[in-house]
Amino acid sequence: MSRDPDSHRSLHELAGCLNWQIEMGADEAIADAPQGWPRALEAPPERPAPAAATPVLALAEPSSIQPKARTLEELRLELLAFEGCGLKRTAKNLVFADGNPSSPVMMVGEAPGEDEDRQGLPFVGVSGKLLDRMAGFAGLTRENFYITNILPWRPPGNRSPSDQEIAACMPFIERHVALVRPRVLIALGGVAAKTLLKSKDGITKMRGKRLEYAYHDVESGAARTCLCIPMFHPAYLLRQSSLKRLAWRDWLMLKKILAEG
Ligand code: URA
Repeated sequence: MSRDPDSHRSLHELAGCLNWQIEMGADEAIADAPQGWPRALEAPPERPAPAAATPVLALAEPSSIQPKARTLEELRLELLAFEGCGLKRTAKNLVFADGNPSSPVMMVGEAPGEDEDRQGLPFVGVSGKLLDRMAGFAGLTRENFYITNILPWRPPGNRSPSDQEIAACMPFIERHVALVRPRVLIALGGVAAKTLLKSKDGITKMRGKRLEYAYHDVESGAARTCLCIPMFHPAYLLRQSSLKRLAWRDWLMLKKILAEG
């Protein structure tokens, strides 16, 4: 006979537990019954070796995965099979990318939020609306720019991604850029800029600079570079609207770069 483990608790205690979860950032119920994920993440000694096709990483280790994808669809499928980032377990959907991969402009944000997680598309929420407006000023729409995130899964409660989560997913964003081969790579926000450029500088220092992003050609392995411009994240601009003046300057710079051809 199964016993409800909470049956001995008073309503008052249960409300206290719920409040604690809300304060810790939980903003939705993922399943009807508790999943016990913290315990599930501790590797039991007798855990069977993972299948070669779906590598499992110790969550605290930087990723040594090397994506093999030769097309964007292959990369999407590789991410769907990837078990090395714990965020996948709490996310509703993989948020791969949106827009036109043949465009000269690729934008990279931080991680999906709640709206993106539900729809499986990047930047479809409030900050996405501001981004589309600013990009429109530079003549860019989702028909002529391409957009993705450093992390393809939503961190629960929109918390900041951990260094381990970023490290686990990094080979995928690097392969993503190498497959798209953009002329201009826009890093939206500090997390994207630091990750892509392997820099410790903050976004206020990096924004609006014409930097270089280096990668290797997927086919030939040859070294390639593209222009990388860090910009303020639109969600940051929604909180710090006095910075919009600087942000418009960056978008104007991008507009001129694109007009120069
Ligand atoms: N913020 C991001 O960095 N990415 C999204 O897709 C949405 C919000």
